[in-house]
Amino acid sequence: MSLDARERLIVALDLPSVQAAEAMVTRLGDTVCFYKIGYQLAFAGGLPFAAGLIAAGKQVFLDLKLHDIGNTVAKGVESVAQLGATFLTVHAYPQTMKAAVEGRRGSKLRILAVTVLTSYDDADLAAAGYDMSVGELAAARAAQARDTGVDGLVCSAEEVANLRTIAGPGMTLVTPGIRPAGSATGDQKRIMTPAHAIEAGADYLVIGRPIVEARDPKAAADAIVAEIEQATRK
Ligand code: C5P
Repeated sequence: MSLDARERLIVALDLPSVQAAEAMVTRLGDTVCFYKIGYQLAFAGGLPFAAGLIAAGKQVFLDLKLHDIGNTVAKGVESVAQLGATFLTVHAYPQTMKAAVEGRRGSKLRILAVTVLTSYDDADLAAAGYDMSVGELAAARAAQARDTGVDGLVCSAEEVANLRTIAGPGMTLVTPGIRPAGSATGDQKRIMTPAHAIEAGADYLVIGRPIVEARDPKAAADAIVAEIEQATRK
């Protein structure tokens, strides 16, 4: 994939208000061209804000993890496509993925599937009625995503190499849980540095707190872009 280093960094705007998000986007300036908006900001005025970011030339990843009956998913995805977003997440259920792929037809929106939430372990899956391990279910869902025409997967950096063998070269792999060497891990358990994640085969890195909670967010983002750049040259 021929993306430059800057395009591969997606900053998670996990902030409580549009005002806080606007201030962060202003501070980051030209260093960052791609932002992720999740539940917290989306339900606090984040959707009109996303439209403004897109109008200003930024790319937006809406992390809304949709899952509903097919008709509802397809119509919701059509609305997200009209907003001009670049990525949208859905849960990797076959009906949901099929409807999402239909809903994004004719637009530039790309659908990313979440295989198994990273907060789930085998015991959580058993409690939810699944007779499979997390690894087995994630692999099965990745194959279904590929066969349904889903554009990419969200996965931890540890999973990238294995999922790439299932997803093939054409699917986009987007990886959270990234921590530059020396930064606080927060609640992330399975972490990797930006360079290692790129070397493992990730296309895009989603990074929140190491940038938005840094004393100098722009300097933190610049350093990460430089690290991505160096890793892609190897
Ligand atoms: O602050 P931090 O860099 O940990 O933010 C990572 C972002 O990626 C958050 O928005 C989080 O919700 C998201 N995410 C994640 N792990 C997943 C899926 C999404 O950390 N498996």
